[in-house]
Amino acid sequence: MKILVTGGLGTIGSCLVARLFLLGHDVVIFDNMEIGNLNNLKLYLPEDEIKQIKIIKRDILDKEHVALAISECSLVYHLAATLGTLNVVSQPSRMLTVNSYGTQIVADLCIAKDIPLVVMSSSMVYGKNEKYRVSESDDLFVGGNVDVGLWWYAISKIADEAYVNSLMLENVNAKIMVVRPFNVIAPVQSHVVGFVFPRFFRSAYSNQPLKVYGDGSQRRTFTWAPDFVDCVLALVEKQLWRDTFNIGGTESISINELATKIIEISKSSSHIVHTDPQEIFKGQFVEIPQRVPDVSHLKKSIGIVPETPLRVMLGEFNKFYKQGASKPFNDMSSF
Ligand SMILES: NC(=O)c1ccc[n+]([C@@H]2O[C@H](COP(=O)([O-])OP(=O)(O)OC[C@H]3O[C@@H](n4cnc5c(N)ncnc54)[C@H](O)[C@@H]3O)[C@@H](O)[C@H]2O)c1
Repeated sequence: MKILVTGGLGTIGSCLVARLFLLGHDVVIFDNMEIGNLNNLKLYLPEDEIKQIKIIKRDILDKEHVALAISECSLVYHLAATLGTLNVVSQPSRMLTVNSYGTQIVADLCIAKDIPLVVMSSSMVYGKNEKYRVSESDDLFVGGNVDVGLWWYAISKIADEAYVNSLMLENVNAKIMVVRPFNVIAPVQSHVVGFVFPRFFRSAYSNQPLKVYGDGSQRRTFTWAPDFVDCVLALVEKQLWRDTFNIGGTESISINELATKIIEISKSSSHIVHTDPQEIFKGQFVEIPQRVPDVSHLKKSIGIVPETPLRVMLGEFNKFYKQGASKPFNDMSSF
């Protein structure tokens, strides 16, 4: 099968592309390389195999080239988006355009050509929902005010979900699936836009302070990218179109504990400092105290959920960063 993956060089995309390639598919990547790069694929594939993958280096707003790419393929995974707190607050109007209009371009073209489409939403669509485990049938509301920048990312993803659901209402045969990822990580994840795992590991390996936002009591769950990809592939294999799925790990950890574990595993002399994120993010930051997915719908649908323990994810990141420890890291002082 010829399959298009937009954003195919990013954290999730590189893992998905490699799996599709190894399953024997003809894979086409559409990525402007704003964040992702070819090196990310090297974690999963040797160079001679990477050379067999077609890469279109274009922007998702370039409708003409998106149309050409889609017309060649029989399935589309749409992952290209602007994400990461720093990215979101530094280019908010572009983020809204890329995430919302970009998805509209891809979805309209898939509908016009009758091509099945998997769309990545986000756990951020649950906003300030205080339920311990959030499930797909819960109401979506950001809960904050629209003058706070971080919500704009959540709003862009709610708009995407609304748009593809409206297309499905108008097109009874449309095959679209919405997936809500919860903190999906892989060692190649970019530190540049503020994600906590790469940010802490880079700081630890350069013996700089690990900056914990606020008091560090906020709790997070993490999802190993290969587990995430297993789940998405199983959903597509079972043709579970016209539905929405949470995909995420459920082992929760506080950010203070995470920082402590990273300092321990990397044998770093770094220490933890608590900082006010509002200073870094121009007052546009929102802290979500906790976010754990209810994955019972996923389990019932495909029989599996992400299960790689945090201990293993920490070990894999450590191995990755240890190998690169001799290379100079970027200055982390602005994070
Ligand atoms: N990783 C997570 O925890 C997480 C959580 C919630 C939602 N998501 C969603 O999953 C998808 C993939 O996330 P990821 O973690 O792999 O992100 P990522 O930033 O690692 O990858 C996104 C990729 O899209 C590309 N891209 C960005 N803007 C583009 C544009 N205008 N045109 C073409 N390509 C562009 C980037 O270069 C990058 O390779 C995104 O839609 C994201 O919103 C991810």
